[in-house]
Amino acid sequence: MTFKDVIYGRRAVNFFDPDKPVPDALLTEMIEMAAQAPSGFNIQPWSLIVLKDKADKLRLQQHAWNQPKISEAPVTFIVLADMAGWKPGNPFLEKNFTEMVKSGAMSEDQREWFEGACQNLYGASEARTVAFACKNAAFFAMGLMLAAKSLGLDTHPMDGFDIDKVRAEFKIPENYWIPLLMSVGYFRSDKTLGPAKWRKSVDEITVRFD
Ligand SMILES: Cc1cc2nc3c(=O)[nH]c(=O)nc-3n(C[C@H](O)[C@H](O)[C@H](O)COP(=O)(O)O)c2cc1C
Repeated sequence: MTFKDVIYGRRAVNFFDPDKPVPDALLTEMIEMAAQAPSGFNIQPWSLIVLKDKADKLRLQQHAWNQPKISEAPVTFIVLADMAGWKPGNPFLEKNFTEMVKSGAMSEDQREWFEGACQNLYGASEARTVAFACKNAAFFAMGLMLAAKSLGLDTHPMDGFDIDKVRAEFKIPENYWIPLLMSVGYFRSDKTLGPAKWRKSVDEITVRFD
């Protein structure tokens, strides 16, 4: 499968074969591939809650417009975006800084500059903090969908859910935004996928305001 095949072949599929599980090794490979996504300062402020148990998926589905694919798919992710990922003391930020020092990308005495830059970029307002978390997690999520397609899997991203109820149901701490849910599995062979959706043209995408 070429990269073009992956790009044009990926679809949000509504129907998953509930009897065809995703092998753990494939799921791991998919997540490892997506983890190659770029992120600001390589902070990687993303996490996944991986639901495979039917009862768990139904707990999620009740807060997500009762979308049946959530429980029909063998796996559904709750994608998390850590709004505190840039803050000093965050264990991954600390690990990241250590790794940067180790690789020579930064020196130990640049820590103050690094922390100040993160504060200015990501901590200046609530909107900036949410944007930081969600833009990076969205790159990761796109990677999940493309990796899945390349591995013969199908996916469905969803933001049709009640964030407060999902947070309460799964005891998700306040520092995480929940940008989307994603079901993963195999398209059900007795269903037909609708035609590919329209896309904006290059002319419609490119703009200027000055
Ligand atoms: C962030 C995001 C949220 C979405 N939420 C839902 C959803 O809650 N329910 C749904 O049926 N489709 C949802 N979709 C799927 C889109 O409708 C779909 O991706 C779009 O129509 C383009 O179709 P395609 O992915 O098959 O190319 C969502 C897609 C994205 C990226």
